[in-house]
Amino acid sequence: MRRSLLPLLAGVAALASPAAAAPDPLAAGGRWSANTSGHAPVPPMGWNSWNAFNSDIDEEKVLASAQALVDTGLAGLGYRYVNIDDGWWLKRRQADGRLMIRTSHFPSAIRPDGASSFRPLTDRLHAMGLKAGIYSDIGRNSCGQIYTPDFKNQPEGTVAEREVGLYGHVDQDIRLFFAEWNFDLIKVDGCGIRGLPADAPRVRSGLYRALPPLVDMQSLGGTNVAAVRTLYDQVGAALKRYAGARDYIFSLCLWGAANVRTWGKNVGNISRTSDDIQPIWPRMLTNLDTVTHRALYAHPGSWNDADMLFFGTGDFDAQHLIEAKSHFSLWAMLNSPLIIGYDLRKLTPALLSIFANRDIVALNQDPAGNQAVLAYDSDEIQIFVKTLADGGKAVAVFNRTGSPAKAVLTAEQLKLRPAADVRLIDLWTKSERRFRREQALELRAHETLIFRASGTRRLPDGLYLSEQPGRINPAEDGVVTPQADPTIYRSIVPWTGTHGGGEHPQYSGWGGAEADRAAYGKLLRIAGTTFDTGLGVLANSRFEVRNDGFARFVAKVGVNDSAANQKTSVRFEVYGDGKLLARSRPMLFGQPAAPLAATVKGVRIIELVARSEAHGSAAPQPVAWADAALLRDAAPRS
Ligand code: GLA
Repeated sequence: MRRSLLPLLAGVAALASPAAAAPDPLAAGGRWSANTSGHAPVPPMGWNSWNAFNSDIDEEKVLASAQALVDTGLAGLGYRYVNIDDGWWLKRRQADGRLMIRTSHFPSAIRPDGASSFRPLTDRLHAMGLKAGIYSDIGRNSCGQIYTPDFKNQPEGTVAEREVGLYGHVDQDIRLFFAEWNFDLIKVDGCGIRGLPADAPRVRSGLYRALPPLVDMQSLGGTNVAAVRTLYDQVGAALKRYAGARDYIFSLCLWGAANVRTWGKNVGNISRTSDDIQPIWPRMLTNLDTVTHRALYAHPGSWNDADMLFFGTGDFDAQHLIEAKSHFSLWAMLNSPLIIGYDLRKLTPALLSIFANRDIVALNQDPAGNQAVLAYDSDEIQIFVKTLADGGKAVAVFNRTGSPAKAVLTAEQLKLRPAADVRLIDLWTKSERRFRREQALELRAHETLIFRASGTRRLPDGLYLSEQPGRINPAEDGVVTPQADPTIYRSIVPWTGTHGGGEHPQYSGWGGAEADRAAYGKLLRIAGTTFDTGLGVLANSRFEVRNDGFARFVAKVGVNDSAANQKTSVRFEVYGDGKLLARSRPMLFGQPAAPLAATVKGVRIIELVARSEAHGSAAPQPVAWADAALLRDAAPRS
């Protein structure tokens, strides 16, 4: 009796101990914890029906777009996904919960037994060498049902029949979409868990059932982040069950809300960072700005999604090719999915030549997966630099304004030696020029100059970590209180105009990890010394870094000068596959940067931990891993 009780009691004690209750999030696990399910080694490319047709879709439009991708050669360049967005549903059959397709618009979906199936359509797309994408919502109803006033092809029938979203049907619907209909991608929107409180007009009028909102776009306190994540995790698990044996893409559409920045990369393959793009210049700026500071949150397997391309129309139409080229160049540089949202039946040669710019597509599809990093920032000019798998560089110099502007590009911004020649190839004109130290550039209104750049690397024997966001995962970014990002351009929202009080900053996660900047976009500076390269983050934090053959890690570490708190010390630790390799002494504000180095030969996952020795409620310390680099040579450099 006694003997059998003891282990039981020990088990209870272990469960009750604080260590068992709260595992240390900074503990080095020696593994890559971001999502590796699905198939997105590079950002997906293709076409989606929404920007072109809204919900007014049918089989003819989808197939014509697919055919155009093939006929124009765009499919051969990688534009393979053909994604059906909102508007395909007829209803949810009540007898068995099966989703029914609007077969009047998708005649190939008619089945003799009265059910309907997209399998003939996906078979057709697959036979064309393409991939097929489908759309759903994590709630009971879709965005179009809830928010679009003139929504064509509304699901029909009773309240229950019109509940076409995944809520309560995850397993059944994912099985249908992937095991039966053979789709390759699913976009999962979030309006159903956002827009149906009991007092919503469409709930009160009896159109839809209320679902207490889990997401409040303007309030994290009003958002149940854990519950939202659990719902998306359930979809991820179902995808593994029904599509795990083949390639698939899980596209999260939470518009940057619900603190998705921290967890979306662990769940999906692409994750929307903003509300819907419109064919209006300022809205493009808004969407761009939501990805700019997130380079470290994107890597092969999961990407920031600034929303679909919206050119061919409005401010990006055939009369505004400068704007269209800027939109395209920026999306390519920032590794956003290149999903065309245009009626391809109307494609002109000029528009086609933009989508089909092979050199710019190659930047987006570069296997290193490094999202471009902001090398220069202002409200007028921005310079983005992207390091490619071959060690080469791409640079985009962007004029955000409606007036001509001058800019200077420096070799230092490219992390190239200023005294040696830098060669620039313009990726639109293919013209070439060379400079030393710096190059003056003139930009037309709204223009982006985009170049491949080569020269003599400042770091000949390795790579700065800030050049390599694609191999970094900020597993813990130290953000305790996510804040709205104040750097995002606050454009007029077209669907409200200037009614109300205007745009308020939103999209949480400001203060997260940054490349070549400290947290909150500040200068990387330790004890008065400024660094133009490094990783900035808050303590307590832990980066996971994939290593493939580098022998040595080096950095100079310290509390960043942007800290307001002078008392809290931070220790910096380097781990290799879970084992401690190096540790700094406790570092205080104002103390000069301390060198920290470790041999990482043969190590697969390096972890960089900044552990604050704070007690109580002190604000997280901003810290710098300045000059952080991976070197090929194991010998310490003098
Ligand atoms: C939301 C999404 C859009 C589109 C529509 C469809 O607004 O953000 O991309 O899918 O829903 O209703």
